[in-house]
Amino acid sequence: MVVDVKQADARDATRLHDQLLWRIMLRYAVVTESMQIGPISFEFTRVADPDRVLDEVAQEEDRREKLTGKRKREDELHLPYWAELWDSSIGLAHFLVRQWAFCGAGESRLAQFAREQIRNPQRAVRAIDVGCGMGLAGVSAARLGLHVLFADLEPPALLFARLNSLPDRERCRYRRVNWQIDRLQERFDFILGADIVYDRSQWSFLHTFFEAHLAPGGAVLIGEPGRSSGEEFEPWISARGWRMARFNQEIPGRREPIRLLQLTRD
Ligand SMILES: C[S@@+](CC[C@H](N)C(=O)[O-])C[C@H]1O[C@@H](n2cnc3c(N)ncnc32)[C@H](O)[C@@H]1O
Repeated sequence: MVVDVKQADARDATRLHDQLLWRIMLRYAVVTESMQIGPISFEFTRVADPDRVLDEVAQEEDRREKLTGKRKREDELHLPYWAELWDSSIGLAHFLVRQWAFCGAGESRLAQFAREQIRNPQRAVRAIDVGCGMGLAGVSAARLGLHVLFADLEPPALLFARLNSLPDRERCRYRRVNWQIDRLQERFDFILGADIVYDRSQWSFLHTFFEAHLAPGGAVLIGEPGRSSGEEFEPWISARGWRMARFNQEIPGRREPIRLLQLTRD
């Protein structure tokens, strides 16, 4: 019997796609859109109405509080921030594509790695999208050929990330990770974090997580939408021995650019 590997692979991808979408749609209404990030385009599935998901969690918490008389602290609540596609992830996706594509001219660590890739295409560039939500930054990195670990505290987020990264699944992995306590037995050339520094109480956890997982020569890339907490994060992290470079990334339909912070150790 002759097996057409390409056809078998396409059938597998379709089956996997349908299974994932089915699991997701049991709980969430979704929309699938065509995303255009620079010259790259791909289908991206996201929660149709993130406010509704948030309301459901809030209502559930109210019910629980009435029954038990106890209110959870915000960090115990598991608010579904993963269900929103944040502008920071769109900014980080554009930044990744622009810096990688214009590697000849770019000054960032990404551009340096892209130049090195041309000389040594066998070398796998490893990235983690931490607090990945539905995975836009990681999906863009995987489209560019990077090997990506999608990591989030919330399991439903990882289902979306799996679905959205299906075309590049041979380079992708998925893992439930709590950046406060989990330590992975590996390091990454790039740690991607779109909109993860909004809460000051998380900074020291994130700092320790970055130290434990950044490979020599690599960079942490943080997308930040211009919150005052982001402004305060810059001197805070710089005071802890990180070298910081700041880039502005325009995104379609947004007046203010997304701030891109590149943190390096060497
Ligand atoms: C504001 S959302 C950003 C999501 C996505 N990066 C984006 O920009 O669309 C923050 C994300 O961090 C995740 N998160 C929050 N606390 C976390 C923790 N301790 N460990 C891992 N992920 C966490 C949330 O579940 C959520 O997906």
